[in-house]
Amino acid sequence: MQDTLKSTITFVKKTLENAEAGHDWFHIERVYKTALNINEKEKGDELVVAFAALLHDIADPKFNNGDEELGPKIAEDFLNSIQVEEETIKHVKLIIQNMSFKNSFDGAAFTSKEMQIVQDADRLDAIGAIGIARAFTYGGFKNRVLYDPAIKPEQHLSKESYKNTTAPTINHFYEKLLLLKDMMNTDAGKAIAKERHDFMLQYLDQFYKEWEGN
Ligand code: ADP
Ligand code: NI
Repeated sequence: MQDTLKSTITFVKKTLENAEAGHDWFHIERVYKTALNINEKEKGDELVVAFAALLHDIADPKFNNGDEELGPKIAEDFLNSIQVEEETIKHVKLIIQNMSFKNSFDGAAFTSKEMQIVQDADRLDAIGAIGIARAFTYGGFKNRVLYDPAIKPEQHLSKESYKNTTAPTINHFYEKLLLLKDMMNTDAGKAIAKERHDFMLQYLDQFYKEWEGN
């Protein structure tokens, strides 16, 4: 492994030492591995994919007064400090900016094969067995109920429900997790998403069955 990658891993681990479970080092490590795995098939620039995956959550705007530029800036400064090539730094910074701007209405959003690969890897970590674990962890942190049979899943398909801060965790499957499969960019990402999506459907079936005592 390149020395610059080793230094980056050390830097990210240290920076995220006290991060919450949703965006801790293990999330980064999974996204990193998945992104490299997808890149084997998609053949993007491996170094760009690796740096972007490792640095994509270096400063979550949610915990930094909504500052969208802090993460990209920290990533840029760090990569400069270890003398990574200018072009690579620029590209990595654009990817991180674009990933954190995902909910904005920035019409001229940047895209590239590497950007699509890292975004797919990040989204894949929100679905499947790990995605389920993350959702219930978040729900527990927010003290939400697991499920409320009085609320029908279809009621949660609207954007409005997303703002409902007391919704049961099962709702999150319908408002976000089950929609991610169709948002994948790459063929390799789509293939992995399909397996994880099917697993979530199977999980939900089992969940409802057990809920009824069967
Ligand atoms: P990201 O940074 O990937 O956009 P978030 O910070 O919104 O993700 O969420 C981190 C993790 O917590 C994800 O796995 C996500 O699915 C989960 N999560 C976010 N909002 C909710 C929610 N309302 N209920 C359950 N899980 C949630
Ligand atoms: Ni992430």
